[in-house]
Amino acid sequence: MRVVVTGGLGALGSQVVHHLEQDGHETVVASRRTGVDLEAGTGLDPLLTGADAVVHTADTTSPRRWRSMTVGGTRAVLDAARRAGTPHVVTISIVGCERVPYPYYRAKRTADELVLASGLPATVVRATQFHPFAAQIGRALRLGPLALGVRGMRVQPVELSWVGRRMAQLATGEVPDGARPGPDLAGPDVLDLGEIERLLATHDGRRPPRFLAVPPLGATMRAFGPQGGILAGPDAEVGGTPFATWLAAQPR
Ligand SMILES: NC(=O)c1ccc[n+]([C@@H]2O[C@H](COP(=O)([O-])OP(=O)(O)OC[C@H]3O[C@@H](n4cnc5c(N)ncnc54)[C@H](OP(=O)(O)O)[C@@H]3O)[C@@H](O)[C@H]2O)c1
Repeated sequence: MRVVVTGGLGALGSQVVHHLEQDGHETVVASRRTGVDLEAGTGLDPLLTGADAVVHTADTTSPRRWRSMTVGGTRAVLDAARRAGTPHVVTISIVGCERVPYPYYRAKRTADELVLASGLPATVVRATQFHPFAAQIGRALRLGPLALGVRGMRVQPVELSWVGRRMAQLATGEVPDGARPGPDLAGPDVLDLGEIERLLATHDGRRPPRFLAVPPLGATMRAFGPQGGILAGPDAEVGGTPFATWLAAQPR
């Protein structure tokens, strides 16, 4: 099959490309480095000609671009898919984005709603935090001998390669009649921030920081914290390696 992968040079997209190619599929990367700008809405049409599927992983972490890229980029992919003869569109979102009133999560939810209302054959996959991002959060919370984090916050980090493989399988599997929510993908263990700090410290060969739990002020902190808003529900697909296994394979 011929599959276009937006953001195919990024962390998740490169995993999707890897697994598609391993299974013998033809892949086409669509990102600014290959002449496609989803915010400007340029460059995607010619790549979609003859495509069986498009896996949309391109996105931004820049708050200034959440409207133009997270939402607008998704709209551009859907419009191009419609013009190209409706290949199967597979997108990636975040588990719990409907529960956490954080602006980026709101943008992801709006993008998901666009896909689900598109009438196209489409699958909205969602994932919990990728292992490297969970490690990045843990390191960002450290202040010398201390680590500061929202009380009650837990994460369920997931292996990027496994998410990439599942997206590749979904893109080349059965084409749905219309747009549907896909699986929520989550890692095998739920860790509180203190455990993440201990694992990171052990890996780095230093003493674990003292964890100071900050009271959850406001709806966003409560959702990230004691409400467990970013944890997967009972219907999620759980897989990939545990965080500690991934961490052990990383350079110090
Ligand atoms: N990080 C997590 O823990 C996590 C968890 C769940 C879901 N997700 C979702 O996973 C997705 C991928 O995340 P990631 O970590 O793989 O991101 P990433 O490594 O930053 O990759 C995103 C890619 O998007 C491309 N891009 C950015 N702006 C573009 C534009 N205007 N037009 C075309 N391409 C553009 C970039 O390539 P160029 O620079 O070449 O354009 C980049 O390679 C996101 O949708 C995110 O919400 C992430």
